[in-house]
Amino acid sequence: MKLLVTGGAGFIGSAFIRLSLGTDPEVEILNLDKLSYAGNLENLEPVRQNPRYAFVHGDICDAALVNSLLEKHRPEAIVHFAAESHVDRSIFSPSPAFETNLRGTFTLLEAARIQRIGRFLHVSTDEVYGSLAPPLEADENFPLNPSSPYSASKAGSDLLARSYFLTYHLPVVVTRASNNYGPYQFPEKLIPLMITNALSDRSLPVYGDGMQLRDWLYVEDHCRGIWAVLKKGRDGEIYNIGGNRSLPNLEVIRMILAATGKPESLIQTVQDRPGHDRRYALSSEKIARETGWQPLVRFEGGLAKTIDWYQRNSGWVHRVRSGEYLKYYAQNYENRQAELRSVTDAGGR
Ligand code: NAD
Ligand code: DAU
Repeated sequence: MKLLVTGGAGFIGSAFIRLSLGTDPEVEILNLDKLSYAGNLENLEPVRQNPRYAFVHGDICDAALVNSLLEKHRPEAIVHFAAESHVDRSIFSPSPAFETNLRGTFTLLEAARIQRIGRFLHVSTDEVYGSLAPPLEADENFPLNPSSPYSASKAGSDLLARSYFLTYHLPVVVTRASNNYGPYQFPEKLIPLMITNALSDRSLPVYGDGMQLRDWLYVEDHCRGIWAVLKKGRDGEIYNIGGNRSLPNLEVIRMILAATGKPESLIQTVQDRPGHDRRYALSSEKIARETGWQPLVRFEGGLAKTIDWYQRNSGWVHRVRSGEYLKYYAQNYENRQAELRSVTDAGGR
């Protein structure tokens, strides 16, 4: 199968490419990625020399480029990962999320329609359902209720993708996964940020009371779910992909501290994220029933493998945690600490 993968230099896209080329000798992949701050060709070093892999440096918003790639390579399917994927960045600066997640997805859909691509898999997120009070669980028909510019842009792109199925019969499928973790994740997200900070004895910034619930999915389980939907999903359908392991953030952080042998005194409460979703919860009954997919990696084992990877790849961590990352870190976390101090000084909390 010949695929165009977008955003394949990021965390999940690169895992998908490594896994696919490593396990299926029939797969050929063309990876289109603009190498934003989150794109890193080091993530693809294991497949760089593979004759079934090729990289194109470019933007999914560039219609001429996307059209010419589809025309020249005639992929059987597009697997669309490329996105501005971080909630906090979308709060500071919403426009990149709207540009890539909405206009970029539109550009790809339009090119796929013109070039009559046989399958368009749009990778989305459980964040489109918004925060759910217990005991609610979102199935694929649950109303969309996004809270952040990031999740609103993903919800918009899901609807756009669906409209291309309903209007033009483009064979679109949408997947909505829960929080991923694993090797090569950019250390702006909870688990890699806490692991890399703990390993270097820095403080671990917890937003608010740390009791927000996320459902954790090992990245390779997500990639296997994407393959299951690519092969067996029905055109026009949406498939949730959850990890079936809901944990409060503080519990995850304590597990990381215990596994790295670091003290709980590293935990530092900081100002909460505006519009912070309290709880995500997903039903993955449909993908299990229709494709037989199940998550295979237990959280304890996946976390241990992830921590081990960050310990063994200190060079990768060192290179990623420089330049732009340091500026982002200062902007996000210094302000949060200052804001929390001002609230506390005023007797607010
Ligand atoms: P990431 O931020 O690690 O990687 C995003 C990749 O997209 C980067 O390589 C970046 O260079 C590329 N990119 C960004 N803008 C681009 C553009 N305009 N043109 C071409 N390439 C561009 O993201 P991730 O965590 O790997 O997420 C991948 C996808 O999965 C996203 O669509 C995200 O919404 C979705 N998702 C993520 C999670 C999660 O927990 N990380 C969970 C569910 C769904
Ligand atoms: O649910 C799927 C989504 O998961 C994906 O669509 C997004 O791309 C991905 O970024 C992720 O979004 P979250 O906002 O849930 O992930 P994040 O890692 O940013 O935060 C997870 C939880 O941890 C959330 O409740 C906020 C909290 N947090 C996060 C950071 C970075 C902290 O308490 N401190 C932090 O420093």
